Amino acid sequence: MATLAEPEQDFSRLPDLDEAVFTAPLKKPAHVGEDWLEPKQTEYSSEDDAIWNDLFARQMGVLPGRAATAFMAGLEKLNLDRGGVPEFGKLSEDLDALTGWSVVPVPMLIPDHVFFWHLANRRFPAGNFIRTRETFDYIQEPDVFHDVFGHVPMLTDPVYADYMQEYGRAGWKAMRYNRLKALGSLYWYTVEFGLLQEAPGDVRAYGAGILSGPTEVVYAVEAESPNRIMLNVDRVMRTDYVISDLQPTYFVIESFEDLYRQTVERDFDKLYRNLGPGFTYANTAVIDVDYVVNRGTLEYTLRGGRGSGAKPV
Ligand SMILES: [Fe+2]
Repeated sequence: MATLAEPEQDFSRLPDLDEAVFTAPLKKPAHVGEDWLEPKQTEYSSEDDAIWNDLFARQMGVLPGRAATAFMAGLEKLNLDRGGVPEFGKLSEDLDALTGWSVVPVPMLIPDHVFFWHLANRRFPAGNFIRTRETFDYIQEPDVFHDVFGHVPMLTDPVYADYMQEYGRAGWKAMRYNRLKALGSLYWYTVEFGLLQEAPGDVRAYGAGILSGPTEVVYAVEAESPNRIMLNVDRVMRTDYVISDLQPTYFVIESFEDLYRQTVERDFDKLYRNLGPGFTYANTAVIDVDYVVNRGTLEYTLRGGRGSGAKPV
């Protein structure tokens, strides 16, 4: 049984969404079509390439031993260390040979149903622009470094690559049920902030939100503040999340096969019917069904998090 997505859905074209389905009112720039793709990738300046190289070097100082083995292998398979912002054409060629995925440039955040459509067709939409020196440490909107460095290496893993496609295929169905928030929570706690237990006592990060910045890599894997709880899809889809601070709770998978099984091979119709439209659990909560890897002190969050200048301990 695979009912994460509608079984009969045609994924070759964009869906006809009925009027009851909410879509965020994003204003499409005049130069892009219905697919929201840039006609071509930005031409980067030498300063843009230098920013990429400095971001890359900074991450390489913290990732070994903390990033999932599959992620580190992906960086190598795609030669992402060759210097400068990667050229999407070459990157897509290499990625296509490995798992059939490509990387396509988008101008900004794109509407959910278009994003899902690209994923369902094994195309990963990546921000075209790169941050500046002024926003080197933190940017709100994902840039090419977050999208390419953070997300693309994992797409070289065959099982993870299939999970991402299935996630895209699942999107339109979640929209029809008005349960996008719940599906978004699953994305947040896996694709963006997921942890993987590679061996007992050896938890690594595979989420792009963790892997594309220097602070959260150390915090997510080693700090005492956050809870680390084994992934349970029903529970995660009911859990709130923060977008502008380090997470109080991370969810841990045993393997990418485990992630695939828990999501793709289950009845989402039933789950959506039983889910409320909002979140049931605070992002700090540990509940009785949880299989807890580490119960966090929550010190960082309770001290007020980023805004208070609390240390990510
Ligand atoms: Fe992301």
